[in-house]
Amino acid sequence: QKKIILDCDPGHDDAIAILLALGHPDIDLLAITTVVGNQTLEKVTRNAQAIIELVGARHIPIAAGCSRPLVRSIQNAAEVHGISGLDGTHLPEPTHPLDPRHAVDLIIETLKSHPPKTITLVPIGGLTNIALAVRKAPEIVELVKEVVLMGGGYHKGNRSAVAEFNIAIDPEAAHIVFNECWPLTMVGLDLTHQAKPTDQIMTDIANINSPISQFVVDSLSYYTAGYRKRNGTDDHAPVHDPCAVAYVIDSSLITTQKVPVDIELQGGLTTGMTVADFRHPPAEDCHTQVAVTLDNQRLWTMVIDSIRELSH
Ligand code: BDR
Ligand code: CA
Repeated sequence: QKKIILDCDPGHDDAIAILLALGHPDIDLLAITTVVGNQTLEKVTRNAQAIIELVGARHIPIAAGCSRPLVRSIQNAAEVHGISGLDGTHLPEPTHPLDPRHAVDLIIETLKSHPPKTITLVPIGGLTNIALAVRKAPEIVELVKEVVLMGGGYHKGNRSAVAEFNIAIDPEAAHIVFNECWPLTMVGLDLTHQAKPTDQIMTDIANINSPISQFVVDSLSYYTAGYRKRNGTDDHAPVHDPCAVAYVIDSSLITTQKVPVDIELQGGLTTGMTVADFRHPPAEDCHTQVAVTLDNQRLWTMVIDSIRELSH
């Protein structure tokens, strides 16, 4: 089993990532930490608790983290995820209390209480918590197995022409995280735009016919309806966040390319851009790679199997 800490801001696609991590036999989800992003910290934390309640996985610690980015003012994605962060869904009231620690402390303490290089950090929101953790305890760089994050993109953005939401909302935090020498895989928009369900996949999820599958159908239906409206398309919406978890489960699902990546902080038009330098073969010590191609059918098979597993 692969041990992970999932740092998230649920969020419709975060919710699917949580279910994949909980339901897949190869993942040992040590903790969920939350960060301001798709909605306020309070809302995304409550959403994480409610998902855990729905699944009945009360043994998973959930800790709330940063309520605002390092430098910039708060931006959310209400136009994508709604006022609650999970509009269109019905979740039970959370009954399980939060872990009393700040997410940053939970991350540091969890890494220190396990053997070195056994835990993968999987950030699927803004990088504020991870940046603060590594500033507070720089020794965690050596303890982390790898960082596999959803964010960025090497040829286009979604928040701006060149910046993806998770990087754009806290570029300073992203700058810190991308410049630490841990192995880092950027699962960016180039990859996640291949992660679209089909009508058949939606039917297969609905046919599981459990409260959890109903939640997923409601969630993806709301998320896709908004995407179609905003983009004037009848295509399914890309479901970004589970791709990072899927890569940890089985890296053969995704091809990657080693390339140095840095974050633009000074740009007039390009702040938050993940600048990948493809000019030369990567140096020996290059510690970053980007996700390139996805086996979409296998991704959804994994997601469906996990939902089925949790529905028992
Ligand atoms: C990312 O932005 C958020 O809205 C999603 O949850 C995902 O993590 C995609 O750009
Ligand atoms: Ca997210």
